[in-house]
Amino acid sequence: MPNIIVPPRWRIPESQITPESVYRNRRAFLQEMGFAGAGLLAASQMSFAADTASPAKPAAAAAAASGATGGKYPAPRNPKFDGKGLTLSDATVTAEYNNFYEFSTSKERVHRLVGPFTTDPWTVRIDGLCEKPMTVDARELIGQFPLEERVYRFRCVEAWAMIVPWTGFPLAKLLAAVKPTSDAKFVKFTTALRPEQMPGIARLREYPWPYTEGLRIDEAMNDLVMVATGIYGKPLPKQNGAPLRLVVPWKYGYKSIKSIVRIELVAKQPATLWETLAPDEYPFESNVNPRVPHPRWSQASERLIDTGDRVPTLPYNGYAEQVAGLYGKS
Ligand code: MTE
Repeated sequence: MPNIIVPPRWRIPESQITPESVYRNRRAFLQEMGFAGAGLLAASQMSFAADTASPAKPAAAAAAASGATGGKYPAPRNPKFDGKGLTLSDATVTAEYNNFYEFSTSKERVHRLVGPFTTDPWTVRIDGLCEKPMTVDARELIGQFPLEERVYRFRCVEAWAMIVPWTGFPLAKLLAAVKPTSDAKFVKFTTALRPEQMPGIARLREYPWPYTEGLRIDEAMNDLVMVATGIYGKPLPKQNGAPLRLVVPWKYGYKSIKSIVRIELVAKQPATLWETLAPDEYPFESNVNPRVPHPRWSQASERLIDTGDRVPTLPYNGYAEQVAGLYGKS
């Protein structure tokens, strides 16, 4: 573990790594987020069956989504990913505790800052090394694919976790539609860059904006990878990455890039925002692995964000059966 005395500004401060006090119990956590009285009561009354995750209860904030394709929600849950054995996280928590550095480094403030961010109309380009590149409005793109709901574990590198019902479609279907050439070895994803609507960008001038992420092509084609368009049975709220984001459940959360404007098939491993800033801390692959500590904290366990329960972290975040083979292990 490096002995860094003066950390650079881009480091996630220790104070943001799920403080014990925040997660000691849910009441303290919700108070920390500014909930009080009736809000706290309403949130704490939400409970879900333990054996099968219950149908999503949307948070009030979820209504802030663009609604461009509202008729497609709620989408049917895919029985392969029905969340059996998992308990959904509280919808209010996922709507009001966000990492979206283009708006703020304060998780509790993001949802208050996204108002001016326009997500409809929204142009997405899918291009690069493919036979049928497309430039399409998100509404039209979402209309082209049947939507489904999947309940996934979501594990942030900061050692907190949630159980989330995402709506969307497999990235593999979109990639198949543009017909990648045999030279395409990686997929690069880029978030919108709108400093006038994203106040966090000006405060982090040294970051290599726009936010970019990447996957190997075989990772990108894995059935688990979703283009998410909704959450808790509604279109994505802006703070969760409207109108389109990635969800890669076996990797740390920063790979799940939000508000995507470009998906590019490329030959070489693309630079990503976090790897460019700190390759030792946020490497390109970033599979969830309890045996490999982050240089500044353990990854052996995680705190479920709304209950505060500490649970062991699973290899590949519990998805080893589906993805270990991608890395020469089964
Ligand atoms: N995408 C963009 N464009 N900007 C970000 O700051 N943060 C990442 C990821 N995608 C981020 C992003 C991180 S660190 C996490 S944990 C998840 O988004 C959080 O997603 P959520 O706020 O929907 O829970």
